Amino acid sequence: MSTLVQPVPHKLETPSLPQGDSCLVVIFGGTGDLTRRKLIPALFDLACVGCTNRNFRVLGIGRTELTDDDFRSRLREGTATSKDTRNFSDGRWHDFARRLHYLVGDASRSDFFPHLKAKIEELQKQGASKNILFYVSTSASLAPPIVEGLGEAGLARNSQGWTRIILEKPFGRDLNSAQELNEIVSHVFEERSVYRIDHYLGKETVQNIMMFRFGNSIFEPVWNRNYVEYVEITAAETLGVEGRGEFYEETGALRDMVANHMLQLLMLTAMEPPVAFDADTVRGQKEQVLRAIRPMSKDEVAKFTVRGQYGPGKIDGKPVPGYRQEPGVNPNSLTETYAAVEFHVDNWRWAGVPFYVRAGKRLAKPLTEVAVHFKRTPQALFSRNPEDVHHNVIALRIQPNEGIALSFGAKQPGQEMRAIRVDMDFSYHDAFGTDTPAAYETLLLDAMRGDATLFTRRDEVEAEWRIITPIEEAWAQLPPSPFPNYPAGSEGPQAANQLIKYDRFAWRSLQV
Ligand code: BG6
Repeated sequence: MSTLVQPVPHKLETPSLPQGDSCLVVIFGGTGDLTRRKLIPALFDLACVGCTNRNFRVLGIGRTELTDDDFRSRLREGTATSKDTRNFSDGRWHDFARRLHYLVGDASRSDFFPHLKAKIEELQKQGASKNILFYVSTSASLAPPIVEGLGEAGLARNSQGWTRIILEKPFGRDLNSAQELNEIVSHVFEERSVYRIDHYLGKETVQNIMMFRFGNSIFEPVWNRNYVEYVEITAAETLGVEGRGEFYEETGALRDMVANHMLQLLMLTAMEPPVAFDADTVRGQKEQVLRAIRPMSKDEVAKFTVRGQYGPGKIDGKPVPGYRQEPGVNPNSLTETYAAVEFHVDNWRWAGVPFYVRAGKRLAKPLTEVAVHFKRTPQALFSRNPEDVHHNVIALRIQPNEGIALSFGAKQPGQEMRAIRVDMDFSYHDAFGTDTPAAYETLLLDAMRGDATLFTRRDEVEAEWRIITPIEEAWAQLPPSPFPNYPAGSEGPQAANQLIKYDRFAWRSLQV
């Protein structure tokens, strides 16, 4: 007989790990930073915990002349020192490194692809899997020739296994270029084989937004305009552009963070409950949120957005240069390193609730969070001034110090009925330890298993650009901001405070 009451385990049990389909991962951009810092450490950890099998191989592609052994030793250090790697040991690396191979070549030229095909066949003869996972981790301009080259060489279709392709961001730089790239991709690959990656979706705490909302019954009834006053979504980094000056000059904070990671956080916070947790249903619900976001006219862009650029300042007490002094950056650059936007989601659930989004580099503290601010009590029973009544906030901390805090008013001990704000705080680290998979690990395994739920669909990417491109265009026409307008190590530009203050609110401090 079944019982409705399940025993509560005293200890958390480690769920058994799923295995990805065996495959050959072909990485374009094999000598790049992302491969060294993220992709190889993620694949290494997956191999260590038994998520890959013996036919699993990696083929890196780059323009630098390297032997397989050179390639392996370059990657070893990145894996050994990565904060994402959980299982490093020399013995394990030795086993893993034997599966790493390298091919030199210029992937922007179509005559490279027959060589690639021959190399893949050679590896398969030596036992590599027939399933192929291409990973495009190159500069954005190389994605179209790579996709076309794969198509022309007959590498996009595979009669002996599956073929999938992961595309790294940036996925285009505006609506037109994203549509063009989507067209090229759709001529070569079926949409179900295309995995557009947004690594935020692989973060445990980002997936937990859905779990928190749809795996509990008490939050959903208040998750709407009747109870929520406004929502704040922050991604603050202390890092600067980290040697990526040239890339960043062409990108800026709006394209780099808001057009993808921040909109993903907004979608997960605002979406309707899906009827099932599968790729099409979840992505369909998310896309509905984008469709409901009010597009902005030029005047609205001037009113609802703020751009910032950091000048010299101090991070953790140490002096750091301003953005214009970074290598590869124009000394008169007008590229924004900070963007704040007030979005309006015009649907039944969220009408009238502003979503304030901010993302910036070289800010006072690293903090990524979604803070949902609830309306005040209708009556100020414990305060003379209604403005002094605390309002409840649910803060979903994505990183660091991952967790969830609910703030509420409690009675301050004493003879009077005075309220004081306190926090109920859940910490991932205290509950589960540090042994959680890195975002790229989760996403690579999902792609190997053919689960695209945490990847961005074609219509979703285009809908993201439909919101962002008018802002970029208006910024190009509006008078430039007086850059630099915030010192490194601060909370951002003053104008961003004005943006939210206009509605009588204030940003949460980054020092929480
Ligand atoms: C990347 C951006 O997509 O995300 C970087 O290009 C940014 O500029 C990074 O630093 C932030 O990712 P995370 O996982 O460190 O929050």
